[in-house]
Amino acid sequence: MMGANKIRTKYVCSNCGAETLKWMGRCPQCGEWNTLEEQVEAPVPKRIAVSEDYLTPSRPQKLSSIQFNGNERILLKMTEIDRPLGGGIVPGSVILWGGEPGIGKSTLILQICHAMASQGQGVLYCSGEESEIQIKLRAERLHVNDDNCFIYAGSNIESILKEAETIKPSMLVIDSIQTMYLSGVESPMGSPAQIRDCTSALVRFAKKMNVSVMIIGHVTKEGNLAGPRILEHMVDVVFYLEGDRSYQFRVLRTVKNRFGSTSESGLFIMEGNGLRGIEDPSGYLLRNRTASTPGSTVAACMEGLRPVLVEIQALSVHSVLAIPRRIAAGCDYNRMIILLAVLEKRNHIHFSTDDVYLNVAGGFKIRETAADLAMAVSLISVKKDTPIPKDLMALGEIGLTGEIMAVSKIGPRLKEAMKMGFNHFILPDANRKEVLDFFQSNRGNIENSIRFVKKLQDVIDILF
Ligand code: TYD
Ligand code: MG
Repeated sequence: MMGANKIRTKYVCSNCGAETLKWMGRCPQCGEWNTLEEQVEAPVPKRIAVSEDYLTPSRPQKLSSIQFNGNERILLKMTEIDRPLGGGIVPGSVILWGGEPGIGKSTLILQICHAMASQGQGVLYCSGEESEIQIKLRAERLHVNDDNCFIYAGSNIESILKEAETIKPSMLVIDSIQTMYLSGVESPMGSPAQIRDCTSALVRFAKKMNVSVMIIGHVTKEGNLAGPRILEHMVDVVFYLEGDRSYQFRVLRTVKNRFGSTSESGLFIMEGNGLRGIEDPSGYLLRNRTASTPGSTVAACMEGLRPVLVEIQALSVHSVLAIPRRIAAGCDYNRMIILLAVLEKRNHIHFSTDDVYLNVAGGFKIRETAADLAMAVSLISVKKDTPIPKDLMALGEIGLTGEIMAVSKIGPRLKEAMKMGFNHFILPDANRKEVLDFFQSNRGNIENSIRFVKKLQDVIDILF
């Protein structure tokens, strides 16, 4: 018995949750530096103070005897959320909403609360971050004022679950998991052990009571959920709300979904009265585009299953610095460096004494190589001080030898481009068949304004 009660110290990695007995500078499991945190391991309490119901293990049941009453999903009537969810909220599901502080998680969830409450579904919104008054102020801004929406400012999971048992809501919101604690767990609030145990109590509650639980979680600078990765394994759906806080554009990205596809995403604009779903993201992102200026090109990127047109802007000026400056906003910095190297080596376009800036207008983040060619064209265009025709689109991935490689989903990209008035295309030769099939089935007369290219040099010969 003595041994069982002994208090021991262990070190837990705040990134991956790995445990060691000795402190180390680097986590032996995930390789992150300086993430091991001391934790005092108290004797395991016999019973965590949560209602016994969520802790008793269930017995095996015959598959044929398990009742399933059609569990209809609850449609929020917010298209940009219902679709990524796979067609509304599945009762009893646990959904994790990750995102940087200030990006709009609490705002979005409060809007979801309203969507639920206005359909007569009870909601309990628990916040460990804000007071009731602060939440009320936000709700006023969002014009949310529902009788069956309950607000609770508190951090103790046992009390929250007790209240939830009384109120019996259809949805329980936890804002945020980093500010919650279970009194049976010794570690401090926000530690991997607290986050893990609070989440597992919430998951059991969700499943036993058939209540949907929304868990909000902050992400670190690197973009991971603060706290152990296991959080993502414990829940049914993981969403990340992403965007640049200096812009209004937001993307709800699906990282995991047990009830739907992860290729769906939601697109929003943050306005004075909350987040509004956008149906025409290309129109929104290109709204400020004026007459052709050197350095500006449009690319068609895929955001989940949706094509989105974005303007890529490049600027290069002679540098006065020993090491020229390179800045990439909205696209991958390393990708830009590679493209500059390819242009320098393969096409003899020299940037080595220039400061180079690459920017994606409107706060969109490019995450695929299909926009390589548009990025390169923008760079060459500014370098040569030659504008690109406003209705021209270039698509393609660029290899290190300067070859242009095929892009995926070329059909939807071209369709969106044509919708937005583009009718001159520079496309990878490797996509030729798909492209010709596409134009045959969509509009036959455009073939002469398509140029197929194999090398970056072909593009330069056509445009400059
Ligand atoms: P918030 O939802 O508090 O972010 P999070 O919970 O992810 O930390 O949103 C914070 C920002 O959103 C804040 O800077 C103000 C802005 N905002 C709007 O632009 N419009 C709105 O209607 C609301 C409620 C907030
Ligand atoms: Mg918040």
